[in-house]
Amino acid sequence: MDEYSQQFTELRKFLAPEIIYGPGAHLRVGQYAVNMGIHRVFVVTDEGVIKAGWTGQILQILEKMGLYYSLFSKLTPNPKDYEVMSGWEQYHSDQCNGIIVVGGGSSIDCAKGVGIIASHQGSILDYEGIDTLKTPCPPMICIPTTAGSSADVSQFAIITDSQNRRKIAIISKALVPDISLISPETTLTLDSQQTAQTGMDALCHAIEALVSNASSPVTDLFSLNAISLISNHLSKAVNNLKDIKHRDPLMLASMEAGFAFSNASLGAVHAMAHALGGYSDANHGESNALLLPHVIRFNFKSATDRYLRIGKAMDLDFVGKTQEQARDILLNHLIQLTQEYGLNMKLSNLGYTLSDIPQLARTAIKDPCLLTNPRPVSIGELEELYAEAL
Ligand SMILES: [Fe+2]
Repeated sequence: MDEYSQQFTELRKFLAPEIIYGPGAHLRVGQYAVNMGIHRVFVVTDEGVIKAGWTGQILQILEKMGLYYSLFSKLTPNPKDYEVMSGWEQYHSDQCNGIIVVGGGSSIDCAKGVGIIASHQGSILDYEGIDTLKTPCPPMICIPTTAGSSADVSQFAIITDSQNRRKIAIISKALVPDISLISPETTLTLDSQQTAQTGMDALCHAIEALVSNASSPVTDLFSLNAISLISNHLSKAVNNLKDIKHRDPLMLASMEAGFAFSNASLGAVHAMAHALGGYSDANHGESNALLLPHVIRFNFKSATDRYLRIGKAMDLDFVGKTQEQARDILLNHLIQLTQEYGLNMKLSNLGYTLSDIPQLARTAIKDPCLLTNPRPVSIGELEELYAEAL
């Protein structure tokens, strides 16, 4: 880039679905399905969300509208390739023509996988990477029930390659859902652990998007506001699970963090966490929270101003501090939050040993999230970061 063009702001692209946000937004699902011409609905959800009653509400609405539905809930956290393929078989044999998801990131990612096979055929593993999808997927309406993954607004689908115990990332504008109906009250049924894990995932999205090489002034706005909202409300929500005053800003923050990372991408925390999820089914939010301080220490000198902005958005006091002191205040604050939420602080507590590290690093080095990390990372450095986190 020459000196002249460096004076201009660059925004590579910005994508988001149509969004209805607010109390009862999910109850509009029937009308939206009709408007989009979906008359045989493939409903993707999970057992926990069914038990919480959210899926039943949606099915009742579809019945009232006279819409046929096929219910699919045979999926697990870190959704597997074979779950996607079995979802696709059901979608195909029930002759569905659109997808409604009621659930968190795993349900939404699995549903995106089904949509990919519906429009592209083959195996889900064929579509790993960036911009591999050549045709649009079937219409999709998302009703998120966690304030964390933001898969309902993102261009990402993360699927586990079960045979090779690794996660693949599929990143494409074809994966941005058509409509997201976001009702903060759907998060009132989450327990404290789910609230903390998903909240820390959203925080990592906002932080990694802000320091990403592909960030822009537009994604920065969303990242910084999300960081501030999560900082002000996550602990309160964890301690007051039924208080919508804290659930609402967290849901908003998750959506904003989703806008940011969907368009600016992520970094080493997510690349390394994806490797953990594929290898041992580790919880995604907890893995991120555990890795975040190690990656910040590694990245800090490559994005110092950006990390200082993150600390300020969290209301940390950096007045009169050197950059190193400010970094330590930020790191200690994040470690303290992870401790407060009772999340695991060490990989060894999750059953990992030194012998697992080479395989984890070999997987993480191939993750597309690493491309936008502010500091280039070698496979040896990934091994060192995993070892530090052990
Ligand atoms: Fe994430």
